[in-house]
Amino acid sequence: MDFVHLLLRYLHLLGFAAVFGGWLVSWLSGKFNCNTAMLYGVATQLATGIVLYGLASAEGDANHAKLGVKFLLALLLAVMIAIPVWKKRERVAAGHFWATGALIAVTAGVAVFWQ
Ligand code: HEM
Repeated sequence: MDFVHLLLRYLHLLGFAAVFGGWLVSWLSGKFNCNTAMLYGVATQLATGIVLYGLASAEGDANHAKLGVKFLLALLLAVMIAIPVWKKRERVAAGHFWATGALIAVTAGVAVFWQ
């Protein structure tokens, strides 16, 4: 694996930390909102993930079904996070908040458990 690939993977993990960390802080501080850490995190995931997908395809070892599912989950997450942030919502509905956290966990689970 070359340096660019490792760097992208590293940034992908920092993006995961931002989106999940942002959500955790919102939960534990009782705010139940979507914040900019989550927005920048999910944007980082989409940007680095798509390039990582391209690199894996070029090397001929991309799991297209897995990465297609990840892409759709991340796209849905991006919409669910971006809209309340852009509309400056102080709080989101409970169902929206828990679904966001569950989707983050499921997407990371797909990354790790689907080989
Ligand atoms: C919120 C959205 C996302 C989360 C939480 C997430 C999470 C992760 C995690 C935790 C890993 C590391 C897995 C491991 O090393 O075993 C990973 C790797 C990876 N992700 Fe994502 N991801 C997201 C979005 C995406 C998207 C949209 C794509 C592209 C379609 C993508 C493509 C990849 C690829 C190709 C790898 C393998 C990296 C490598 O080993 O070179 N991810 N992801």
